[in-house]
Amino acid sequence: MSKSINDIFRLQGKAVLVTGAGGGLGREFARALSGNGADVICWDIDDKGLDETRKLIQEDGADAAVDIVDVGDEESVKAGILRAHRAVSRIDVLINNAGISTRPVRVHELSFVDWERLIRVNLTGTFLCSKHALPAMIKFKAGSIINISSILGLSGFYPGQSVVGAAYSASKAATDGFTRQLAAEYARENIRCNSIAPGFFSGTDLGRERRAAASPESNEAFRSSVQSRTPFNRFGTPDDLLGLIFYLASDASKYTTGQTFAIDGGWTAT
Ligand SMILES: NC(=O)c1ccc[n+]([C@@H]2O[C@H](COP(=O)([O-])OP(=O)(O)OC[C@H]3O[C@@H](n4cnc5c(N)ncnc54)[C@H](O)[C@@H]3O)[C@@H](O)[C@H]2O)c1
Repeated sequence: MSKSINDIFRLQGKAVLVTGAGGGLGREFARALSGNGADVICWDIDDKGLDETRKLIQEDGADAAVDIVDVGDEESVKAGILRAHRAVSRIDVLINNAGISTRPVRVHELSFVDWERLIRVNLTGTFLCSKHALPAMIKFKAGSIINISSILGLSGFYPGQSVVGAAYSASKAATDGFTRQLAAEYARENIRCNSIAPGFFSGTDLGRERRAAASPESNEAFRSSVQSRTPFNRFGTPDDLLGLIFYLASDASKYTTGQTFAIDGGWTAT
């Protein structure tokens, strides 16, 4: 008999570690995966956010483990991986989702402190979590690493005001390069690595520093410049990403590696 969709996209029994799951997109990934049978471990530096994520998952009738881990701190990541291995025998899927943006300014105004802070979380964090999750994946000869990059790593965008800044774009372009190299290095051990490059999504906290610093008029100008530049003429919502998350987390993607998938309402098509 040919395989069913449930066999191909099965998540039951998969252990999934989601970083930055105390809010935003990561919380929605954790909810969707746990709600479909995966054993989910949520990492964040925001303990209240983690508690809220766990509460929502429990209200959905599932459960998840939560742990305070700073992805940009190697000791914190190492200790978190040890604790994760006590909770689940193996990590099948790692979603490197934790990320920040800093106050958006142009390059000549960008402080070294903000540059370093952003690169430490967005890029170094992706490296550290992958590095410390990989040994067990190598041992079990299986794994899927999903890196959340951005369309801003694929093309520049400056609608007359700074949106995120070059450190963010650089971190996301580098994440895609990291994805391809990791994919090439570990395919023989049956470990795959792909990036999801979202377009502009609403309903998350990313960009709060920009929004707080900007006038209502400039926030509205930003919103309308993004919307009119997007062929679907709207921002994405977290559920727009879930189909690809299910694909990359499950064995449905067992022959897919090294790719960057833009989910952007057509932004990169134009
Ligand atoms: N929202 C968008 O439009 C959009 C677009 C493209 C890419 N992304 C990417 O998606 C990912 C999630 O963003 P979001 O929009 O949900 O933002 P968000 O700010 O709502 O959530 C990010 C989460 O990461 C956590 N975090 C921050 N620093 C951390 C650290 N050092 N260690 C562990 N956790 C940390 C935060 O506490 C927060 O819970 C990010 O990588 C972001 O760059 C978002």
